[in-house]
Amino acid sequence: MQWYDQSGRHLPWRNLRNPYAIWLSEVILQQTRVDQGLKYWERFLEVLPTVEDLASAPESQIKGLWSGLGYYRRADLLHRGSKQIASTGWPKGYAAWLEVPGIGPYTAAALASIVDGEVVPALDGNAYRVYSRIADWSEPIETARSKAFINSFALNQLHPKRPGDFNQAVMDLAQALCTPKKPKCSECPVQEMCAARRAGSAELRPVKTRTLKVIEQDLHFGIPRRGPLFGLVRRPVGGIWSGLYTLPELATVPAEGTLLVLDHRLSHRKLRLHFYSEFEGSSEPEIWLTREEWNAHGMPQAFVHWLTKFPYI
Ligand code: ADE
Ligand code: SF4
Repeated sequence: MQWYDQSGRHLPWRNLRNPYAIWLSEVILQQTRVDQGLKYWERFLEVLPTVEDLASAPESQIKGLWSGLGYYRRADLLHRGSKQIASTGWPKGYAAWLEVPGIGPYTAAALASIVDGEVVPALDGNAYRVYSRIADWSEPIETARSKAFINSFALNQLHPKRPGDFNQAVMDLAQALCTPKKPKCSECPVQEMCAARRAGSAELRPVKTRTLKVIEQDLHFGIPRRGPLFGLVRRPVGGIWSGLYTLPELATVPAEGTLLVLDHRLSHRKLRLHFYSEFEGSSEPEIWLTREEWNAHGMPQAFVHWLTKFPYI
């Protein structure tokens, strides 16, 4: 705690008691780095300063504010979460936070500890790394047994009076010192009690077995154009890029004439996108937008990438 007070990151939401600001920060940071997420957080709070404002905002405005953060399902979940909170009030405690759309076990624990002072460990991949090193836990980390162990180990370490600060200290420790490669153990505030440091096994923890299977997928798009306008269709809800606008996919793949190819990596998918200037058999565009309008409607990262890579499009 002393290390956190002196060396922890100074993040604006850490000085606040406003559950809306804190909830928003945690949702944004679920898959976004702090330095990138910060400006989105500020902008959300500026434009929509209360949970009621967020709940009653049109979907397009939220997509626009979220634009660039990628993985738009989270923007949908944020909106649904705000509606639920606006109608039922702020959750109190871990189990109640878990009921909010978009909030999984890790975020529920982070929020319950920070907002409500509940003594519950927030365990994401980074926290698992730190705790598995301190305990020098040598079993594969994905198993139920390992998770149960780390959970009870962490629960024992957690500061009873400052559980939220303690969880955030672990986040900062993971980011600043206890990094996946070459942890800076000699600067670490818990080096005296760290079993992996003593055993020299820090870099070997946590032990991983299964590697994620990555699905490879080819997608084929036409490029309907009218001057500066792109012809777009809305993606079906539930699939990849759920509810966002993309170029229309081709039902039949032309035998030749690929114009551009782009490789794009999603968390569990390797996409190869093929773009064709001629397109037949695709669905008709539903909407024609300029590049800027498309971006404001919520453009998938892959298409941001595409337009960056081929700026003359
Ligand atoms: N990542 C997710 N939540 C965080 C927080 N409260 N502080 C720092 N990094 C985080
Ligand atoms: Fe991580 Fe090293 Fe600190 Fe242990 S001593 S928690 S391995 S940085």
